Amino acid sequence: MSVLAVVDSSNAREETFPPLSILVLHGPNLNLLGTREPGIYGSIRLADINDLLLEEGRSLSANVSAVQSNHEGALVDAIHDALFKHQGIIINAGAYTHTSVALRDAITGVNLPTVEVHLSNIYCREEFRHHSYIAPVAIGQISGFGAKSYLLGLQALVYHLRYS
Ligand code: DQA
Repeated sequence: MSVLAVVDSSNAREETFPPLSILVLHGPNLNLLGTREPGIYGSIRLADINDLLLEEGRSLSANVSAVQSNHEGALVDAIHDALFKHQGIIINAGAYTHTSVALRDAITGVNLPTVEVHLSNIYCREEFRHHSYIAPVAIGQISGFGAKSYLLGLQALVYHLRYS
């Protein structure tokens, strides 16, 4: 049990929260971050994003586990495995965002609150990237803030789990 100091404009108070456990899923080609299309995705590596997520998780009293796979079935399995282990999911499904009914069904199947994130703003890019199979079954989507999209997604998910 960790203690989080919450300061608001009227009174400083302390709230205790049981730690949460969050699964972060990275889809295909995200292992190439750092060298992959840096003009679109920046130069940050996936390992650095995971480090930032762990750090942000610590400050939010949330344990973060990150998994990357280039295989749709492996991502489906990871979503199934999240049941009873994690309270929520952050997913950047990469190109599967725009193609995968299987990932969408896995998310609805486990019924865990899920936040969809993208480094790039998918709505400013090619038309085929404008549609997400995941968005309608996610609690929300964050797109376009580079690595920060993941951190914002984690904050939003933790807020949702604690206060909704
Ligand atoms: C992406 C956007 C997708 O369209 C693309 O296929 C990716 C990365 C992003 O994070 O901006 O692989 O999900």
